[in-house]
Amino acid sequence: MSEIKTVGVVGAGVMGGGIAQSLAKAGYEVTCTDIASKALGAARQDAAEGRFGLAGAVARGKLDAAEAEAARARITWSNSFEEAAQSDLVIECVPEKLDVKLSVFRSLDEIAPKQSILASNTSGFSIAAMAGATRRPSRVIGWHWASPAFVMKFAEIVVTDVTSDAVREQVIACAEKCGKNPVVVRDNPLEWGFVANRIYFAMIREASRVVDEGVATRAEVNDLMVDCFRWPVGPFAMVKGAGSGWK
Ligand SMILES: NC(=O)c1ccc[n+]([C@@H]2O[C@H](COP(=O)([O-])OP(=O)(O)OC[C@H]3O[C@@H](n4cnc5c(N)ncnc54)[C@H](O)[C@@H]3O)[C@@H](O)[C@H]2O)c1
Repeated sequence: MSEIKTVGVVGAGVMGGGIAQSLAKAGYEVTCTDIASKALGAARQDAAEGRFGLAGAVARGKLDAAEAEAARARITWSNSFEEAAQSDLVIECVPEKLDVKLSVFRSLDEIAPKQSILASNTSGFSIAAMAGATRRPSRVIGWHWASPAFVMKFAEIVVTDVTSDAVREQVIACAEKCGKNPVVVRDNPLEWGFVANRIYFAMIREASRVVDEGVATRAEVNDLMVDCFRWPVGPFAMVKGAGSGWK
């Protein structure tokens, strides 16, 4: 397959909008869709004014206004799932519910061109499960982003036993073009989470135990971890920030 030129983003919530902006800044033609017009409108507005996207990059002097405008023009905000599916790469960013994701993958497999790559931004469901909902398992891959998607370099690329080498290389190249640092990890259907989230949740479990035992408050745990390990925020602030898109 030739190089990826067009990308569809399915789900324009906390993650999808930022992912669309990252790809557009890298030069891809992006079609971003959502079943909720309100979410689509909010994502479009975020691209124009948001702190952690194109507008914020201009405000911080990291992008000039013309580049940001060109990137914005490369994004089509569309109510049509079919339109987004007509892309070389489609990234699924719908809520973390397996039945919803499987249904999206089944539909994508029906509609998207046979050579299109289907990726999931799932936080932890098995990529093999999603690949199994399609007739193109070798063209299904995980591309797990971190929030805010436009800013964070994180790119956990999750491969199954049957993900093709060509697909993996194309997605790595795309992530690099977006300025990310792709790290390839193996799908493990026996666990929820890949690498970053398994370790993150282990840390949250222990932080919660410390609070439940009355050893320290949540605010104190946050302060201690920031001061000791130079984390940008403490464990409980991370939970809040990730859920809200750090707004
Ligand atoms: N929030 C984070 O920090 C974060 C980080 C990494 C990965 N993720 C993962 O990314 C995915 C999306 O998370 P989010 O926080 O952006 O969720 P979100 O709820 O903010 O956005 C999901 C969007 O998907 C839309 N949607 C639902 N069903 C749809 C369908 N069938 N077709 C098109 N759109 C549909 C919803 O209307 C909503 O706007 C989840 O799998 C989540 O686990 C989230």
